[in-house]
Amino acid sequence: MKPVNSGNLALAAAFVLVLAAMAFVEPSTTAAVAPETQRRTRPKPRAKRTPPKPAEMKFSHQATAHQLACAFCHTFPSANWNVVRTGDAAIPDVTEFPQHASCLKCHRTEFFARERPAPRICAVCHVGVTPKFTVRHPFPNPVEAFDKSPRSRDFVSAFAVWFPHDRHLELFGEGDSCSNCHTTLNPQGEGSDEYSSKTPADLGDGFWLKKGTFKTSPSGHTACFSCHAADSGMKPEPSECATCHRLQTRQAGTVDFDLAAAATTAVTDPATRRIWRERNATATFRHEGGLHTEVACIKCHNVTSLDTTDPMSARVGVVSCGGDSGCHITASVDEGGALNFEVLQRASDASFRCTKCHIAYASAPVPASHSSALPGAKTGTSP
Ligand code: HEC
Ligand code: HEC
Ligand code: HEC
Ligand code: HEC
Ligand code: HEC
Ligand code: HEC
Ligand code: HEC
Ligand code: HEC
Repeated sequence: MKPVNSGNLALAAAFVLVLAAMAFVEPSTTAAVAPETQRRTRPKPRAKRTPPKPAEMKFSHQATAHQLACAFCHTFPSANWNVVRTGDAAIPDVTEFPQHASCLKCHRTEFFARERPAPRICAVCHVGVTPKFTVRHPFPNPVEAFDKSPRSRDFVSAFAVWFPHDRHLELFGEGDSCSNCHTTLNPQGEGSDEYSSKTPADLGDGFWLKKGTFKTSPSGHTACFSCHAADSGMKPEPSECATCHRLQTRQAGTVDFDLAAAATTAVTDPATRRIWRERNATATFRHEGGLHTEVACIKCHNVTSLDTTDPMSARVGVVSCGGDSGCHITASVDEGGALNFEVLQRASDASFRCTKCHIAYASAPVPASHSSALPGAKTGTSP
């Protein structure tokens, strides 16, 4: 155990006073009630008291004042790095929230505010704060532990990871190099049930998420720090956070994902939701579906031009839906091309929804990329 520093002791002491002054106030469940009412109402007896919870409060890396060197707040490695991962799996890593000292320089007033049940700023890191109960939220790293907490379900990182594929691929040798880092999430394989969860009886042609839709990506530092270790000479070093983590630049409204669809199809798995949320070409595309597994990854993904911090550069073009042999883009609609069919339907019915490949985009106007991908585009006879 690390010795408690004097700043923390002072804080804990100040906190005892705050709590003493509010000894008869009911905890969080009545937080929404006006203070006057609270004082007059006698606390109801309860089977079990939950410790007071401060109101929710979010920290933002986007705030200009917070755009400091990462090391200003994040200490590498955290004191608990060899506790959260043990044995051979243990790697020096940041696995704990920043210390009080990194906030106190600017937020002294908020830290010592006489708020009830606790200063709101504590809630950035703490579940609750009393002298006896100082449990913190799960820190987002390591992700395997974090994913067991409810917080992970709607977790969106403020950062995109920069991974230059071109500089790494040769290190992984020829052949199936992509699958070293990208595997099929929740595959159907030889199983008979193609859906990711139980479907309702009245599904009909409605959308329901299928197994094998998504490809995973490395979910944490283990995959990177094996080479990018402090003494390996392979830059960036683990402490150079900002080389790999770049602030997200995604624009609102440019994804095909729809939270309601995730809710309807009962998708609660945090890893699935994280990937699905970033789909900005087609939310329904299934890697394990159709003949997709027979197509080489690089036919659809141009990894040499791929900038993983720019969502638009990772976007798969609609022309790749045609593949080498037509597939979803055929010479005429009679040959079964889904794109031909949907564009034709839309031309005759403005309310037609394009649900083959899309969720959020289904009712949007037909983009120029789609019309020009059809063979008839050049001759004016499309679709
Ligand atoms: C002013 C203090 C501060 C600075 C500077 C800072 N962080 Fe953080 N960081 C935090 C706090 C506090 C949390 C926990 C907040 C939370 O869980 O919402 C956090 C959480 C994170 C997370 C997990 C949450 C997420 O959005 O993915 C990552 C990754 C991260 N920081 C990376 C960085 C990097 C990279 C830098 C430098 C470019 C940086 N931080 C600079 C305070 C800071
Ligand atoms: C260099 C000074 C500085 C440091 C260090 C700093 N902050 Fe801030 N913080 C600010 C300023 C200034 C604002 C308000 C301006 C803004 O929101 O852009 C702010 C805003 C916030 C807010 C939002 C407040 C609100 O009312 O919504 C939270 C939460 C917060 N900081 C938490 C933290 C935590 C936690 C740390 C330590 C890990 C920290 N800050 C470190 C300067 C700082
Ligand atoms: C940026 C995240 C963060 C914020 C904000 C924060 N704490 Fe903490 N707190 C920590 C961490 C990390 C520890 C564990 C320190 C350690 O063991 O090294 C801790 C520990 C504590 C402890 C236990 C004593 C100790 O030092 O181990 C108390 C008490 C405490 N915090 C109170 C508060 C109060 C009160 C607030 C709000 C005024 C607050 N904290 C805000 C991160 C935070
Ligand atoms: C050493 C590990 C590694 C290898 C090998 C690798 N990738 Fe990646 N790939 C990554 C990482 C890391 C990311 C960024 C993930 C993130 O944004 O969190 C990524 C991102 C991607 C993305 C973008 C995902 C998105 O929408 O942001 C695609 C597509 C992709 N890789 C395809 C490939 C293909 C195709 C190959 C084989 C030619 C390949 N990768 C080989 C690690 C790897
Ligand atoms: C037939 C075209 C096609 C093939 C073949 C293909 N992908 Fe994809 N891939 C896509 C599409 C479309 C997306 C969704 C892009 C979006 O909406 O953001 C995608 C997304 C991804 C993502 C991001 C995570 C996700 O599922 O959204 C990764 C990583 C990825 N593919 C890796 C691979 C790897 C590795 C292979 C080979 C084993 C491969 N892909 C084969 C079309 C393809
Ligand atoms: C097999 C070893 C190996 C693994 C595993 C590996 N890298 Fe690398 N990485 C390298 C080497 C070697 C270079 C330097 C290449 C060069 O100089 O062109 C590099 C370069 C980089 C760079 C470019 C640095 C710069 O400033 O130009 C980034 C960013 C990066 N790696 C991120 C990652 C991430 C993220 C992961 C984990 C998903 C990862 N690497 C996994 C070996 C590896
Ligand atoms: C070599 C590249 C690399 C370096 C250096 C690096 N990270 Fe990461 N980090 C990653 C990758 C890759 C992931 C997992 C994939 C993702 O976040 O999309 C990750 C995940 C995380 C997470 C889990 C939450 C999340 O966003 O997924 C936190 C927290 C984090 N990093 C913080 C840090 C901090 C703090 C530093 C500096 C001390 C740092 N990282 C240095 C590549 C790196
Ligand atoms: C066979 C699959 C497929 C079908 C069918 C399809 N799309 Fe797309 N759509 C894509 C792909 C792939 C992208 C992303 C790349 C692109 O635009 O080339 C996309 C992108 C989009 C975008 C975003 C474009 C942008 O520039 O931001 C919209 C909007 C859209 N489609 C609407 C539609 C509509 C409306 C229909 C029905 C007439 C339709 N799509 C039919 C695959 C399809």
